[in-house]
Amino acid sequence: MTCGSGMHSHNIYYRKQKNLMNTVETRIKHLACTHSHDMHACALLIGSPFLFDLIGQQAEKAVLKRGSFQRLCLSDVSNSSSIQAIDDISVSLVGPKLHTFTLEELREATHNFSWSNLLGEGGFGPVYKGFVDDKLRPGLKAQSVAVKRLDLDGKQGHKEWLAEIIFLGQLRHPHLVKLIGYCYEEEHRLLVYEFMARGSLENQLFRRYSAALPWSTRMKIALGAAKGLAFLHETDKPVIYRDFKTSNILLDSDYTAKLSDFGLAKDGPEGEETHITTRVMGTQGYAAPEYIMTGHLTTKSDVYSYGVVLLELLTGKRVVDKTRPSREQNLVEWARPLLRDQRKLFRVIDPRVEGQFPIKGAQKVAALAYKCLSHNPNPRATMSDVVKILESLQNFDDVFKGPFVYVAVSETSDGDIVKGKEG
Ligand SMILES: Nc1ncnc2c1ncn2[C@@H]1O[C@H](COP(=O)(O)OP(=O)(O)OP(=O)(O)O)[C@@H](O)[C@H]1O
Ligand SMILES: [Mg+2]
Repeated sequence: MTCGSGMHSHNIYYRKQKNLMNTVETRIKHLACTHSHDMHACALLIGSPFLFDLIGQQAEKAVLKRGSFQRLCLSDVSNSSSIQAIDDISVSLVGPKLHTFTLEELREATHNFSWSNLLGEGGFGPVYKGFVDDKLRPGLKAQSVAVKRLDLDGKQGHKEWLAEIIFLGQLRHPHLVKLIGYCYEEEHRLLVYEFMARGSLENQLFRRYSAALPWSTRMKIALGAAKGLAFLHETDKPVIYRDFKTSNILLDSDYTAKLSDFGLAKDGPEGEETHITTRVMGTQGYAAPEYIMTGHLTTKSDVYSYGVVLLELLTGKRVVDKTRPSREQNLVEWARPLLRDQRKLFRVIDPRVEGQFPIKGAQKVAALAYKCLSHNPNPRATMSDVVKILESLQNFDDVFKGPFVYVAVSETSDGDIVKGKEG
Protein backbone atom coordinates (compact mmCIF):
# COMPACT_ATOMS: atom_id res chain seq x y z
CA MET A 1 0.00 0.00 0.00
CA THR A 2 1.31 3.48 -0.79
CA CYS A 3 0.67 6.99 0.44
CA GLY A 4 -0.73 8.11 -2.84
CA SER A 5 -2.33 5.40 -4.93
CA GLY A 6 -3.36 3.33 -1.92
CA MET A 7 -5.45 6.05 -0.27
CA HIS A 8 -8.80 4.66 -1.43
CA SER A 9 -8.31 1.17 -0.04
CA HIS A 10 -6.75 2.72 3.02
CA ASN A 11 -9.97 4.66 3.65
CA ILE A 12 -12.10 1.52 3.43
CA TYR A 13 -9.74 -0.18 5.84
CA TYR A 14 -10.01 2.83 8.12
CA ARG A 15 -13.84 2.66 8.23
CA LYS A 16 -13.79 -1.06 8.95
CA GLN A 17 -11.61 -0.48 11.98
CA LYS A 18 -13.40 2.60 13.34
CA ASN A 19 -15.12 0.69 16.14
CA LEU A 20 -11.81 -0.67 17.29
CA MET A 21 -10.38 2.83 17.33
CA ASN A 22 -13.25 4.16 19.43
CA THR A 23 -12.69 1.44 22.02
CA VAL A 24 -8.98 2.17 22.08
CA GLU A 25 -9.48 5.92 22.41
CA THR A 26 -11.84 5.47 25.35
CA ARG A 27 -9.25 3.27 26.95
CA ILE A 28 -6.55 5.89 26.50
CA LYS A 29 -8.70 8.61 28.07
CA HIS A 30 -9.29 6.33 31.04
CA LEU A 31 -5.60 5.55 31.33
CA ALA A 32 -4.68 9.22 31.01
CA CYS A 33 -6.74 9.85 34.13
CA THR A 34 -5.60 6.87 36.17
CA HIS A 35 -1.91 7.30 35.38
CA SER A 36 -1.68 11.08 35.49
CA HIS A 37 0.36 10.93 38.71
CA ASP A 38 3.17 9.08 36.97
CA MET A 39 5.57 11.32 35.06
CA HIS A 40 6.73 8.60 32.72
CA ALA A 41 3.24 7.44 31.98
CA CYS A 42 2.34 11.07 31.25
CA ALA A 43 5.24 11.44 28.86
CA LEU A 44 4.20 8.33 27.03
CA LEU A 45 0.59 9.35 26.99
CA ILE A 46 1.46 12.52 25.12
CA GLY A 47 2.13 10.21 22.21
CA SER A 48 -0.97 8.14 22.83
CA PRO A 49 -3.39 9.59 20.28
CA PHE A 50 -1.34 8.14 17.49
CA LEU A 51 0.09 5.28 19.50
CA PHE A 52 -3.27 3.65 19.83
CA ASP A 53 -4.73 5.22 16.79
CA LEU A 54 -3.76 1.96 15.19
CA ILE A 55 -6.13 0.50 12.75
CA GLY A 56 -4.71 -2.95 12.14
CA GLN A 57 -5.47 -6.25 13.82
CA GLN A 58 -1.94 -6.25 15.20
CA ALA A 59 -2.78 -3.19 17.28
CA GLU A 60 -5.82 -4.87 18.79
CA LYS A 61 -3.71 -7.90 19.65
CA ALA A 62 -0.99 -5.70 21.13
CA VAL A 63 -3.51 -4.03 23.45
CA LEU A 64 -5.32 -7.23 24.44
CA LYS A 65 -2.07 -9.11 25.01
CA ARG A 66 -0.92 -6.61 27.60
CA GLY A 67 -4.30 -5.76 29.05
CA SER A 68 -3.03 -2.30 29.91
CA PHE A 69 -1.48 0.75 28.33
CA GLN A 70 1.97 0.07 26.97
CA ARG A 71 4.14 1.21 24.16
CA LEU A 72 4.02 -0.82 20.99
CA CYS A 73 7.40 -2.56 20.71
CA LEU A 74 9.46 -3.03 17.62
CA SER A 75 9.20 -6.80 18.16
CA ASP A 76 5.38 -6.58 17.99
CA VAL A 77 5.90 -5.46 14.45
CA SER A 78 9.03 -7.21 13.30
CA ASN A 79 7.90 -10.59 14.66
CA SER A 80 4.98 -10.42 12.27
CA SER A 81 5.25 -13.29 9.88
CA SER A 82 4.88 -11.44 6.63
CA ILE A 83 6.47 -8.34 5.19
CA GLN A 84 2.96 -7.21 4.27
CA ALA A 85 1.94 -7.19 7.94
CA ILE A 86 4.88 -4.87 8.71
CA ASP A 87 3.86 -2.67 5.82
CA ASP A 88 0.26 -2.53 7.05
CA ILE A 89 1.29 -1.49 10.53
CA SER A 90 3.66 1.20 9.31
CA VAL A 91 0.88 2.64 7.21
CA SER A 92 -1.56 2.33 10.11
CA LEU A 93 0.49 4.34 12.59
CA VAL A 94 -1.22 7.48 11.43
CA GLY A 95 -2.90 9.89 13.76
CA PRO A 96 -3.47 13.53 14.42
CA LYS A 97 0.15 14.03 15.48
CA LEU A 98 2.02 12.03 12.85
CA HIS A 99 1.42 13.14 9.30
CA THR A 100 1.65 11.01 6.20
CA PHE A 101 3.11 13.00 3.34
CA THR A 102 3.26 12.17 -0.33
CA LEU A 103 6.59 12.26 -2.13
CA GLU A 104 5.25 15.12 -4.23
CA GLU A 105 4.45 17.18 -1.13
CA LEU A 106 7.93 16.66 0.27
CA ARG A 107 9.42 17.50 -3.10
CA GLU A 108 7.58 20.81 -2.92
CA ALA A 109 8.60 21.40 0.70
CA THR A 110 12.31 20.98 -0.13
CA HIS A 111 12.50 22.79 -3.51
CA ASN A 112 12.67 19.46 -5.29
CA PHE A 113 15.29 18.12 -2.88
CA SER A 114 17.60 20.81 -4.12
CA TRP A 115 21.30 20.74 -3.40
CA SER A 116 21.07 24.13 -1.70
CA ASN A 117 18.66 22.63 0.85
CA LEU A 118 20.98 19.73 1.70
CA LEU A 119 21.78 19.70 5.43
CA GLY A 120 23.96 16.62 5.51
CA GLU A 121 24.07 12.95 4.70
CA GLY A 122 24.33 9.86 6.86
CA GLY A 123 23.90 6.11 6.54
CA PHE A 124 20.15 6.43 5.87
CA GLY A 125 20.54 8.96 3.11
CA PRO A 126 20.55 12.71 2.46
CA VAL A 127 18.80 15.18 4.77
CA TYR A 128 17.18 18.34 3.33
CA LYS A 129 15.80 21.46 4.91
CA GLY A 130 12.16 22.08 4.03
CA PHE A 131 9.14 24.08 5.02
CA VAL A 132 5.60 22.89 5.77
CA ASP A 133 2.41 24.66 6.82
CA ASP A 134 -1.33 24.20 6.97
CA LYS A 135 -1.67 24.56 3.21
CA LEU A 136 -0.03 21.16 3.04
CA ARG A 137 -2.08 19.62 5.87
CA PRO A 138 -4.88 21.34 7.76
CA GLY A 139 -3.72 21.96 11.31
CA LEU A 140 -0.05 21.63 10.47
CA LYS A 141 2.00 24.39 12.12
CA ALA A 142 4.01 26.54 9.72
CA GLN A 143 7.57 25.45 10.41
CA SER A 144 10.94 24.49 9.01
CA VAL A 145 11.54 20.76 8.86
CA ALA A 146 14.35 18.34 8.11
CA VAL A 147 13.43 15.71 5.53
CA LYS A 148 15.50 12.51 5.58
CA ARG A 149 15.27 10.53 2.39
CA LEU A 150 16.26 6.85 2.24
CA ASP A 151 19.08 6.27 -0.19
CA LEU A 152 17.71 3.38 -2.22
CA ASP A 153 21.25 2.17 -2.98
CA GLY A 154 22.43 2.54 0.62
CA LYS A 155 22.96 0.08 3.46
CA GLN A 156 19.86 1.01 5.45
CA GLY A 157 16.27 0.43 4.47
CA HIS A 158 12.68 -0.17 5.49
CA LYS A 159 13.69 -1.72 8.84
CA GLU A 160 15.53 1.37 10.07
CA TRP A 161 12.79 3.64 8.73
CA LEU A 162 10.17 1.60 10.57
CA ALA A 163 12.20 1.56 13.82
CA GLU A 164 12.34 5.35 13.67
CA ILE A 165 8.56 5.56 13.33
CA ILE A 166 7.83 2.95 16.00
CA PHE A 167 10.13 4.61 18.58
CA LEU A 168 9.95 8.32 17.77
CA GLY A 169 6.28 8.08 16.81
CA GLN A 170 5.43 7.03 20.34
CA LEU A 171 8.07 8.57 22.58
CA ARG A 172 7.84 12.31 23.11
CA HIS A 173 10.26 14.21 25.31
CA PRO A 174 11.90 17.66 25.23
CA HIS A 175 15.25 15.95 24.57
CA LEU A 176 14.16 13.69 21.72
CA VAL A 177 13.84 15.18 18.26
CA LYS A 178 10.21 15.41 17.23
CA LEU A 179 9.06 13.27 14.33
CA ILE A 180 6.39 15.19 12.43
CA GLY A 181 5.56 12.62 9.80
CA TYR A 182 6.77 10.34 7.09
CA CYS A 183 6.27 9.24 3.53
CA TYR A 184 5.79 5.68 2.31
CA GLU A 185 5.31 5.54 -1.38
CA GLU A 186 6.34 2.58 -3.49
CA GLU A 187 10.01 1.99 -2.66
CA HIS A 188 10.45 5.53 -1.25
CA ARG A 189 10.86 6.01 2.50
CA LEU A 190 11.18 9.47 4.04
CA LEU A 191 11.03 10.90 7.53
CA VAL A 192 10.07 14.45 8.45
CA TYR A 193 11.45 15.97 11.67
CA GLU A 194 11.39 19.30 13.42
CA PHE A 195 14.27 21.40 12.12
CA MET A 196 17.15 21.81 14.55
CA ALA A 197 18.75 25.15 13.81
CA ARG A 198 22.30 24.35 14.93
CA GLY A 199 22.53 20.93 13.31
CA SER A 200 24.50 18.17 14.98
CA LEU A 201 26.88 18.39 17.93
CA GLU A 202 29.47 16.79 15.67
CA ASN A 203 29.36 19.81 13.38
CA GLN A 204 29.38 22.29 16.26
CA LEU A 205 32.26 20.65 18.06
CA PHE A 206 34.51 19.51 15.24
CA ARG A 207 33.75 21.46 12.09
CA ARG A 208 36.84 23.36 11.03
CA TYR A 209 35.67 26.93 11.14
CA SER A 210 32.95 26.75 13.79
CA ALA A 211 33.43 28.93 16.86
CA ALA A 212 34.55 27.06 19.97
CA LEU A 213 31.72 26.10 22.32
CA PRO A 214 32.13 27.70 25.75
CA TRP A 215 32.21 25.45 28.82
CA SER A 216 28.68 26.33 29.98
CA THR A 217 27.25 25.46 26.57
CA ARG A 218 29.06 22.11 26.60
CA MET A 219 27.57 21.37 30.00
CA LYS A 220 24.09 22.35 28.83
CA ILE A 221 24.42 19.98 25.89
CA ALA A 222 25.79 17.18 28.10
CA LEU A 223 22.84 17.57 30.46
CA GLY A 224 20.20 17.71 27.73
CA ALA A 225 21.53 14.62 25.98
CA ALA A 226 21.76 12.81 29.35
CA LYS A 227 18.11 13.64 30.04
CA GLY A 228 17.07 12.22 26.68
CA LEU A 229 18.96 9.00 27.31
CA ALA A 230 17.71 8.74 30.92
CA PHE A 231 14.15 9.09 29.65
CA LEU A 232 14.65 6.19 27.22
CA HIS A 233 16.17 4.00 29.92
CA GLU A 234 13.41 4.70 32.40
CA THR A 235 10.23 4.40 30.41
CA ASP A 236 7.93 1.52 31.38
CA LYS A 237 9.61 -0.54 28.74
CA PRO A 238 13.23 0.62 28.53
CA VAL A 239 14.75 1.46 25.19
CA ILE A 240 18.44 0.92 24.45
CA TYR A 241 19.47 3.63 22.03
CA ARG A 242 22.62 1.89 20.75
CA ASP A 243 23.92 4.72 18.55
CA PHE A 244 24.77 7.51 20.96
CA LYS A 245 27.37 9.76 19.30
CA THR A 246 27.93 13.42 18.50
CA SER A 247 26.32 13.26 15.04
CA ASN A 248 23.08 11.93 16.54
CA ILE A 249 22.77 14.77 19.05
CA LEU A 250 21.01 17.67 17.39
CA LEU A 251 20.98 21.22 18.71
CA ASP A 252 18.25 23.79 18.78
CA SER A 253 18.95 27.51 18.39
CA ASP A 254 19.53 27.78 22.16
CA TYR A 255 21.67 24.62 22.27
CA THR A 256 18.93 22.39 23.66
CA ALA A 257 20.19 18.90 22.82
CA LYS A 258 17.84 16.32 21.30
CA LEU A 259 18.55 12.73 20.33
CA SER A 260 17.80 11.68 16.78
CA ASP A 261 18.19 8.47 14.79
CA PHE A 262 16.41 5.51 16.33
CA GLY A 263 17.23 3.17 13.45
CA LEU A 264 19.42 0.99 15.69
CA ALA A 265 17.37 1.36 18.90
CA LYS A 266 16.23 -1.81 20.66
CA ASP A 267 13.62 -2.62 23.26
CA GLY A 268 15.45 -3.42 26.50
CA PRO A 269 15.42 -6.74 28.40
CA GLU A 270 12.12 -7.89 29.90
CA GLY A 271 11.32 -9.57 33.22
CA GLU A 272 14.23 -11.47 34.76
CA GLU A 273 16.49 -10.92 31.78
CA THR A 274 19.52 -8.72 32.33
CA HIS A 275 20.45 -8.09 28.73
CA ILE A 276 19.50 -8.76 25.17
CA THR A 277 21.85 -10.42 22.74
CA THR A 278 22.16 -8.94 19.33
CA ARG A 279 24.42 -8.52 16.36
CA VAL A 280 27.09 -5.93 17.14
CA MET A 281 26.19 -2.69 15.39
CA GLY A 282 26.95 0.93 16.00
CA THR A 283 29.81 3.30 15.33
CA GLN A 284 33.50 2.64 15.86
CA GLY A 285 34.82 4.06 19.10
CA TYR A 286 31.43 4.51 20.77
CA ALA A 287 30.39 0.89 21.38
CA ALA A 288 30.96 -0.54 24.87
CA PRO A 289 33.73 -3.17 25.13
CA GLU A 290 31.48 -5.93 26.54
CA TYR A 291 28.95 -5.37 23.76
CA ILE A 292 31.67 -5.70 21.14
CA MET A 293 33.02 -8.87 22.82
CA THR A 294 29.74 -10.69 23.57
CA GLY A 295 26.90 -8.94 21.75
CA HIS A 296 25.24 -8.46 25.17
CA LEU A 297 23.40 -5.18 25.11
CA THR A 298 22.17 -3.33 28.22
CA THR A 299 21.36 0.25 29.12
CA LYS A 300 24.93 0.36 30.50
CA SER A 301 26.20 0.00 26.92
CA ASP A 302 24.56 3.37 26.21
CA VAL A 303 26.20 4.79 29.34
CA TYR A 304 29.62 3.89 27.93
CA SER A 305 28.80 5.68 24.65
CA TYR A 306 27.60 8.62 26.72
CA GLY A 307 31.00 8.65 28.48
CA VAL A 308 32.70 8.81 25.09
CA VAL A 309 30.64 11.85 24.06
CA LEU A 310 31.27 13.52 27.42
CA LEU A 311 34.99 13.00 26.84
CA GLU A 312 34.69 14.51 23.35
CA LEU A 313 32.95 17.53 24.89
CA LEU A 314 35.69 17.90 27.50
CA THR A 315 38.58 17.51 25.09
CA GLY A 316 37.18 18.86 21.82
CA LYS A 317 38.75 15.77 20.22
CA ARG A 318 37.11 13.06 18.15
CA VAL A 319 36.92 9.58 19.65
CA VAL A 320 39.12 8.17 16.89
CA ASP A 321 41.45 10.32 14.81
CA LYS A 322 44.21 8.77 12.74
CA THR A 323 45.85 12.18 12.22
CA ARG A 324 46.82 12.41 15.90
CA PRO A 325 50.12 10.99 17.24
CA SER A 326 49.74 7.20 17.53
CA ARG A 327 49.49 7.21 21.36
CA GLU A 328 46.57 9.64 21.18
CA GLN A 329 44.63 8.25 18.24
CA ASN A 330 42.18 6.40 20.48
CA LEU A 331 40.78 9.14 22.71
CA VAL A 332 39.48 6.85 25.47
CA GLU A 333 42.76 4.95 25.83
CA TRP A 334 44.75 8.16 25.92
CA ALA A 335 42.53 10.37 28.09
CA ARG A 336 40.88 8.01 30.57
CA PRO A 337 43.97 7.56 32.80
CA LEU A 338 44.41 11.36 32.90
CA LEU A 339 40.86 12.04 34.05
CA ARG A 340 41.48 11.03 37.63
CA ASP A 341 44.65 13.01 38.11
CA GLN A 342 43.74 16.59 38.94
CA ARG A 343 47.19 17.88 37.94
CA LYS A 344 46.85 16.29 34.51
CA LEU A 345 43.31 17.49 33.86
CA PHE A 346 44.60 20.59 32.09
CA ARG A 347 46.19 18.37 29.46
CA VAL A 348 42.79 16.89 28.69
CA ILE A 349 40.49 19.90 28.55
CA ASP A 350 39.94 21.48 25.15
CA PRO A 351 42.40 24.39 24.80
CA ARG A 352 39.71 26.22 22.84
CA VAL A 353 37.77 26.96 26.05
CA GLU A 354 40.80 29.15 26.85
CA GLY A 355 40.98 28.21 30.50
CA GLN A 356 37.45 29.51 31.08
CA PHE A 357 36.02 26.62 33.06
CA PRO A 358 35.26 25.96 36.72
CA ILE A 359 38.02 23.78 38.15
CA LYS A 360 35.91 21.85 40.65
CA GLY A 361 33.13 21.44 38.12
CA ALA A 362 35.59 20.16 35.52
CA GLN A 363 37.03 17.69 38.02
CA LYS A 364 33.56 16.33 38.72
CA VAL A 365 32.74 16.02 35.04
CA ALA A 366 36.08 14.27 34.47
CA ALA A 367 35.33 11.84 37.31
CA LEU A 368 31.89 11.22 35.83
CA ALA A 369 33.33 10.52 32.37
CA TYR A 370 35.85 8.16 34.01
CA LYS A 371 33.01 6.24 35.69
CA CYS A 372 30.88 6.03 32.54
CA LEU A 373 33.90 4.69 30.64
CA SER A 374 34.55 1.87 33.09
CA HIS A 375 35.57 -1.30 31.23
CA ASN A 376 33.26 -3.32 33.47
CA PRO A 377 29.62 -2.24 33.00
CA ASN A 378 28.59 -2.61 36.66
CA PRO A 379 30.43 0.40 38.13
CA ARG A 380 29.18 2.68 35.35
CA ALA A 381 26.74 5.33 36.52
CA THR A 382 23.08 5.11 35.51
CA MET A 383 21.82 7.88 33.26
CA SER A 384 19.65 9.29 36.06
CA ASP A 385 22.81 9.55 38.23
CA VAL A 386 24.49 11.39 35.36
CA VAL A 387 21.56 13.81 35.13
CA LYS A 388 21.69 14.51 38.87
CA ILE A 389 25.44 15.17 38.85
CA LEU A 390 25.32 17.41 35.79
CA GLU A 391 22.33 19.35 37.12
CA SER A 392 24.34 20.20 40.23
CA LEU A 393 27.18 21.51 38.03
CA GLN A 394 25.26 23.81 35.71
CA ASN A 395 26.03 27.00 37.61
CA PHE A 396 29.52 26.43 38.96
CA ASP A 397 31.30 29.76 39.10
CA ASP A 398 34.86 29.06 40.29
CA VAL A 399 36.07 29.87 36.80
CA PHE A 400 39.79 29.44 36.38
CA LYS A 401 41.42 32.78 35.69
CA GLY A 402 44.69 31.73 34.19
CA PRO A 403 47.21 33.83 32.25
CA PHE A 404 45.68 35.19 29.11
CA VAL A 405 46.17 32.57 26.46
CA TYR A 406 45.68 33.64 22.92
CA VAL A 407 44.67 30.66 20.86
CA ALA A 408 45.02 31.39 17.18
CA VAL A 409 43.29 28.44 15.60
CA SER A 410 44.58 27.68 12.18
CA GLU A 411 44.71 24.27 10.67
CA THR A 412 47.42 22.31 9.01
CA SER A 413 46.52 20.33 5.96
CA ASP A 414 46.16 17.15 8.03
CA GLY A 415 43.65 18.74 10.40
CA ASP A 416 45.93 19.40 13.41
CA ILE A 417 45.24 22.63 15.23
CA VAL A 418 48.19 25.00 15.57
CA LYS A 419 48.15 27.27 18.60
CA GLY A 420 49.91 30.52 19.33
CA LYS A 421 50.50 31.83 22.88
CA GLU A 422 50.67 35.36 24.15
CA GLY A 423 50.81 37.18 27.48
N1 LIG B 1 16.23 17.44 12.41
C1 LIG B 1 17.33 17.95 11.86
N2 LIG B 1 17.51 19.28 11.82
C2 LIG B 1 18.62 19.83 11.28
N3 LIG B 1 19.61 19.10 10.73
C3 LIG B 1 19.49 17.77 10.74
C4 LIG B 1 18.35 17.12 11.29
N4 LIG B 1 18.51 15.78 11.15
C5 LIG B 1 19.69 15.61 10.56
N5 LIG B 1 20.30 16.79 10.29
C6 LIG B 1 21.59 17.02 9.62
O1 LIG B 1 21.82 15.98 8.72
C7 LIG B 1 23.06 15.33 9.01
C8 LIG B 1 22.95 13.86 8.68
O2 LIG B 1 22.16 13.24 9.65
P1 LIG B 1 22.01 11.67 9.75
O3 LIG B 1 21.42 11.38 11.07
O4 LIG B 1 21.28 11.18 8.55
O5 LIG B 1 23.49 11.12 9.60
P2 LIG B 1 24.68 11.03 10.64
O6 LIG B 1 24.15 11.11 12.04
O7 LIG B 1 25.68 12.06 10.25
O8 LIG B 1 25.28 9.61 10.35
P3 LIG B 1 24.68 8.20 10.80
O9 LIG B 1 24.08 7.61 9.59
O10 LIG B 1 25.87 7.47 11.27
O11 LIG B 1 23.66 8.46 11.87
C9 LIG B 1 23.31 15.64 10.49
O12 LIG B 1 24.66 15.62 10.80
C10 LIG B 1 22.73 17.03 10.63
O13 LIG B 1 23.69 17.98 10.26
MG1 LIG C 1 22.52 10.26 12.65
